[in-house]
Amino acid sequence: MKRVKAVYPGSFDPPTNGHLDLIERGSKIFDEMVVAILLNPEKSPLFSVPERRKMLEAMTSGLDNVTVETFDGLTVEYAMSVGASAVLRGIRAISDYEYELQMALMNRKLQPSLETVFMMPAEKYSYVSSRLVREVAQLGGNIDCLVPPLVAQKLREKMDPALKFAAIERTVAKSASRKTSRKKKS
Ligand code: PNS
Repeated sequence: MKRVKAVYPGSFDPPTNGHLDLIERGSKIFDEMVVAILLNPEKSPLFSVPERRKMLEAMTSGLDNVTVETFDGLTVEYAMSVGASAVLRGIRAISDYEYELQMALMNRKLQPSLETVFMMPAEKYSYVSSRLVREVAQLGGNIDCLVPPLVAQKLREKMDPALKFAAIERTVAKSASRKTSRKKKS
């Protein structure tokens, strides 16, 4: 039986609820899905690629047919190299359509056997983009309903490094108290 594997490429800086919504929808119609983070040396991202990968892995840990990978170069070449026959992209509004159509047609020109599949995220995420999430977070706005809780926490830590140190301190204190109680027992 034919199995359909799709690649969902993007920057995911950071991954949003809209991305997750699309991944969940894609995982229901494709047999396998690879969420592929572009390694783009020209951009100066907010989150490093390993950070984005960790967040996406945590977000998709309950989806058995979804994996998270990174790639560089052309999306079509990456998709072919992993045996995918489709590229998944999300369209939130008409404003996305022009760019996405152009990209889909260019990808078809480069690799005619690869199909681009467009899906719409839930309406409630139609205005959510990584760029706006970054901007709102950087200006101190509330991003809790726009991204998964783990991403919201990471964004807060990025904006206020003191929070990160506090989290590290808590972890260190916890492991120290575990060690002390082990010593007391022995
Ligand atoms: O999340 P984004 O930033 O909208 O994703 C854009 C992405 C990564 C899908 C696009 O920039 C891309 O495919 N880049 C890889 C290079 C490539 O294949 N370029 C030709 C596209 S027609």
